[in-house]
Amino acid sequence: MIKIAPSILSSDFGRLADEIKEVEAAGADWIHIDVMDGRFVPNITIGPLIVEAVRPQTGLPLDVHLMIEEPDRYIPAFARAGADWISVHQEACPHLDRTIHLIKEHGARAGVVLNPATPAEVLKPILPELDLVLLMTVNPGFGGQAFIPRVLKKVESIRRLLDQEGLSDVEVQVDGGINPETAKTAARAGASVFVAGSAVFGKEDREKAIRSIRSAAET
Ligand code: DX5
Ligand code: ZN
Repeated sequence: MIKIAPSILSSDFGRLADEIKEVEAAGADWIHIDVMDGRFVPNITIGPLIVEAVRPQTGLPLDVHLMIEEPDRYIPAFARAGADWISVHQEACPHLDRTIHLIKEHGARAGVVLNPATPAEVLKPILPELDLVLLMTVNPGFGGQAFIPRVLKKVESIRRLLDQEGLSDVEVQVDGGINPETAKTAARAGASVFVAGSAVFGKEDREKAIRSIRSAAET
């Protein structure tokens, strides 16, 4: 089943609670929260305090994308703050197996993210431990960048590896430059969860924005 996860990075932070309620009413499935530390990526955004503040504002799952170095130091705090899904970058985790277990021990579902230049094969040994694989379709750090079509081959590879191992329930998420056109190509390649920042929060009519991404992904 297709899921749409609006990224609050492109929302109006002065009205964050209202923005979240609006996309929930408009048909969003998850709320995507981009955490950046100014080291792993050049930008700084959100900490566990904001996740805790957002938690009572919505019934939707909170999907926390950690773009930070040494994520093990903060996973317990994000889980306590109410994260339902926590994803870490493979590139930031020298002990990925340990990090995945840490996420699960704290009661969250575990995802691993690959930057555009990281090959699918690095995840092969750990796929059975994962609930989600996130393939970045831009270089992480900012909203509003252009989708990198080259990543579609990697979406296909991950979907194939999962199917081969009987792990078809693992979500394959794409993030960056997602709009109705790119969502359609990513869905054909095997993506099941679509993160969209500017293509949802940048539009006046959020309901229409979410509906058009969903219908493009479903065709
Ligand atoms: C980029 C973030 C994305 C970002 C997507 O580093 O991980 O979630 O908000 O924004 P758009 O959809 O505008 O590319
Ligand atoms: Zn993200």
